[in-house]
Amino acid sequence: MPRAIYLDDHATTRCDPAVVDAMVPYFLEHFGNAGSRTHSHGHTARAAVELARARVAATIGGDPREVVFTSGATEANNLAVLGVMRAAGRGHLVVSTVEHKAVLDPARVWEREGGLLTVVPPDASGRVCPDRIAEALRPDTVLVSMMLANNEVGTIQPVAEVAARCRERGVLVHTDAAQAVGKIPVDVRTLGVDLLSLSAHKMYGPKGVGALWVRRGRPRVSIAPLTHGGGQERGLRPGTLPVPLIVGLGVACQRVDAALADGELMGVARRRDRLLEILRAAVPDLQVNGSMEHRLPNNLHVALPGVDAAALMMAVRPIAFSAGSACTSESLEPSYVLAAMGLARDVAAASFRLGLGRFTTDDDVEEAGAAIGAAAGRVRALSRLIE
Ligand SMILES: Cc1ncc(COP(=O)(O)O)c(C=O)c1O
Repeated sequence: MPRAIYLDDHATTRCDPAVVDAMVPYFLEHFGNAGSRTHSHGHTARAAVELARARVAATIGGDPREVVFTSGATEANNLAVLGVMRAAGRGHLVVSTVEHKAVLDPARVWEREGGLLTVVPPDASGRVCPDRIAEALRPDTVLVSMMLANNEVGTIQPVAEVAARCRERGVLVHTDAAQAVGKIPVDVRTLGVDLLSLSAHKMYGPKGVGALWVRRGRPRVSIAPLTHGGGQERGLRPGTLPVPLIVGLGVACQRVDAALADGELMGVARRRDRLLEILRAAVPDLQVNGSMEHRLPNNLHVALPGVDAAALMMAVRPIAFSAGSACTSESLEPSYVLAAMGLARDVAAASFRLGLGRFTTDDDVEEAGAAIGAAAGRVRALSRLIE
């Protein structure tokens, strides 16, 4: 049996120890409510929140006043999509087929509320062509939501090109950057977007916290809040702020900046390429799903023809990876992302995702690659026998 190796960083990442260390005092000593204005417990908590806000803003090239803390990227996406469309009151929304459900589902809610929706498919490599988005725009289009990097095949989308086309037409752009922040450099001004979602647990921070970045200035981005209450986060996301989680997100962002400067991503990409090399040597007819050129450095998504991915996962059980996407892996539906890319059902069933990260070692890659490669041979032989 191989040892337990975690290769599912797109589902979630292990917390960086520096993140946990920074959070602990905010549970035990500095437990104040950041909304308490009348004593030092509140002031300390507020100062920590504002420091974290500045760190989040610095990581994505924004202004701290543009950061709204949320419970994660799901909430940030809902606030962006439904908040912007409802504030507009009517109008047309454009999303891509390969968005996370946290964009697709609110988009469908908008449609049920009587709004207009266009869903633009990707090409066979998983990329959504900016021309297709531009063609979908109408005079009443309010918002385009296009993810920066896909959570299954790791495809990096041409968000900057799309934003440039949309700006000419006065259309706002939101990008779900949950899989991108910490994996590729992300700068909101270079991208030219108006809203961006991120999530701490995808970048070595805690689960249950994220942020929506909302551009200040003109043209104004108006958002109707989804929940109502104590007025926190300028009324856009009321509720007592989870100070320890926010501190954790801030330190996770700080660590991302340091890691980018240290060349962490090159190491991750090198290990990913080595893993592919090992798997290809074991299974020469391996097929890579999605663009290799426009791809997150930590993502590998492959099909081993004739090898059922679920059976393969069982055969190397201590190694954690994912068939389909983790967020939909509770259902046995074939991945809608792979289907939209035109993969046949049998190829999709033979496909799986490997996600590497900060804590993946060379040994992890060698051992996991060898174990998966050997198990693939056994699973294939067995299914031939059954046939
Ligand atoms: C691209 C993308 N968007 C949104 C989410 C949801 O993020 P969270 O778990 O922070 O709500 C995920 C997580 O799977 C994701 O991969």
